Amino acid sequence: MSQLAMKKMAAEAALAYVKDDSIIGVGSGSTVNCFIEALATIKHKIKGAVAASKASEQLLRKQGIEVFSANDVTELDIYVDGADEINPQKMMIKGGGAALTREKIVAALAKTFICIVDQSKQVDVLGSTFSLPIEVIPMARSQVARQLVGLGGFPIYREGVVTDNGNVILDIANFTILEPMAMEQALNNIAGVVTNGIFALRGADIVIVGTPEGIKTL
Ligand code: 5RP
Repeated sequence: MSQLAMKKMAAEAALAYVKDDSIIGVGSGSTVNCFIEALATIKHKIKGAVAASKASEQLLRKQGIEVFSANDVTELDIYVDGADEINPQKMMIKGGGAALTREKIVAALAKTFICIVDQSKQVDVLGSTFSLPIEVIPMARSQVARQLVGLGGFPIYREGVVTDNGNVILDIANFTILEPMAMEQALNNIAGVVTNGIFALRGADIVIVGTPEGIKTL
C-alpha cells in the first residue's frame, strides 16, 4: 500500500471526532490536505475551521469551508494535524512544511490534539529519522545557529524558505532528542528562536496511524 493511501486512511478516520456545529483546528501538510478533502464531505455539519498555514487556509476556502482567525475563537474542540515523527509518548517533531509556529498556536487552542500519520512516522526516539526544524527571526540566524552547535546540533539553513510569519528555518540534523520536554524548553529560551519543532509540552492526545493492515488508534 502506498504512503498516500495510508495518509488518506488516517485522515478519513479523523472525521469520526468532528462534532456537529464545531470549529475545527486544521494543521498543514499532505496528510492534512487529505483531511481537508474528507472534511469537505461533511462541511454542512460544521461551522468552519481555524487554519495553521496559509496553504491550508486556501485549501479550506477552495473546498467551501469557512475559515476563522485564531483570534476569533477562545477554544477549539479538536485540532487535527500530521507529524514528521511521533514517539510512543505521543510527542512529535513537526515543521517539515515550515508551519510549526502557527501549528503550535492552533494546537494550544484545542481541547484534543488528533495526530494523523502513516506508519513511517512512528519512532522510538525523536530525532532518529528527521531533522528538527527551528523557526528563527532572520537577523538572529547566525547567532542562533552558533548556540545550536553549542547544544550539540548541526544546524542547516533551509535556503529559499520564508515562513508564513516572515522568518527563516534552521534544521538540526542528526539530533537525537532523549528528553523532549527539557529540550523544547531549552530551545525556546534562545533569543531569536520563534518556535522549535518539538511538540512535547503539548503532545497529541489521540494518534491515528494508517498501516497496510488498516487504522491503528493510540
Ligand atoms: C508542517 C508539518 C506537517 O504536519 C508535517 O511536516 C507532516 O507532513 P505530511 O503530512 O506531509 O507528511 O508539521 O509544518
